[in-house]
Amino acid sequence: MGKKILVTGGAGFIGSHFIKYMLKKYKACQIVNLDLLTYAGNLENLIEVKDNINYQFVKGNICDRRLVRALVKNKIDFIVNFAAESHVDRSIADPGIFVKTNVLGTQVLLDAARDYNIKKYIQISTDEVYGSLPQKGYFTEDSPLAPGNPYSASKAGADMLVRAYYKTFNLPVNITRCTNNFGPYQYPEKLIPLIITNALADKKIPVYGDGLQVRDWLYVEDHCKALDMILHMGKTGYIYNVGGNNEKTNISIVKLILDQLDKPESQIKHVKDRPGHDRRYAISSKKLQEELGWTPEYTFKKGLKETIDWYLSNREWWLKR
Ligand SMILES: NC(=O)c1ccc[n+]([C@@H]2O[C@H](COP(=O)([O-])OP(=O)(O)OC[C@H]3O[C@@H](n4cnc5c(N)ncnc54)[C@H](O)[C@@H]3O)[C@@H](O)[C@H]2O)c1
Repeated sequence: MGKKILVTGGAGFIGSHFIKYMLKKYKACQIVNLDLLTYAGNLENLIEVKDNINYQFVKGNICDRRLVRALVKNKIDFIVNFAAESHVDRSIADPGIFVKTNVLGTQVLLDAARDYNIKKYIQISTDEVYGSLPQKGYFTEDSPLAPGNPYSASKAGADMLVRAYYKTFNLPVNITRCTNNFGPYQYPEKLIPLIITNALADKKIPVYGDGLQVRDWLYVEDHCKALDMILHMGKTGYIYNVGGNNEKTNISIVKLILDQLDKPESQIKHVKDRPGHDRRYAISSKKLQEELGWTPEYTFKKGLKETIDWYLSNREWWLKR
């Protein structure tokens, strides 16, 4: 694949995995990584590719129209937009930056994509845009958007813009809506690394409300595999859900990790529930599986073991955070 990809937010959790995945798989693929290096961005995630001649890092903001245009003008074929403020709790404390980065930043990228006729723009969205689901059933790509917090509202806003640029300007786009990812290099504010790192440090593990909120989990490598397939084979204008079929309550994950680390359940501390906390997220990935042939390779058990092992062997990475 002799193509040049602008990856935004590539120093974060999923973006850094995607860059390493693509550079390993495609020897002729060139990647420009545009990342602002907020608290969530970390160049240590990319040490193994930093000297790769096909990789270039640019520190900057996706809202910087001049910079984005200059980068895209330089023969970019594809844009894959991971850059975002991504933590729900932070969006409740300060919604403004979520609207700026996630909505207005996306618009800057879309304008540049349009002006320089890029071959494909992929928006990395989330299952959270569909809102909360009752005990049964799954969201499909046709389900209405009903975001329940400022983070998911900003992601839904961006999705609407991407859809509008496809409908109005024929911009070749895909939107992907993935469930909760987990794996190495995830910032320890997110559930699984928070549990692991607090457990290892013998700290309390905060659990919102009764802990019975249900999330679906996907190992990050399987998300990267899906994105690679969508980049190459995704039908223009299509939305693809990417789910792991691993629905778990938050409290069951806490207990599982404590058990695996041989730590006591007395480390669990129930705290007041998050305002507007969605009860259940679950999506159907049938379209991605049937049309593009994607299947996840990791079971939840295997992915969790690799994740725990990584945090055990990379204490210096998370102790600095
Ligand atoms: N983590 C998940 O479980 C999950 C699930 C579904 C979808 N997503 C989506 O995937 C994407 C990546 O998620 P993640 O977990 O890797 O996030 P992350 O918070 O780990 O990384 C975000 C990256 O974006 C960069 N960034 C933030 N603002 C920027 C700006 N204005 N300009 C340039 N770079 C900026 C940060 O420095 C960081 O490197 C996000 O769009 C998120 O909404 C995440």
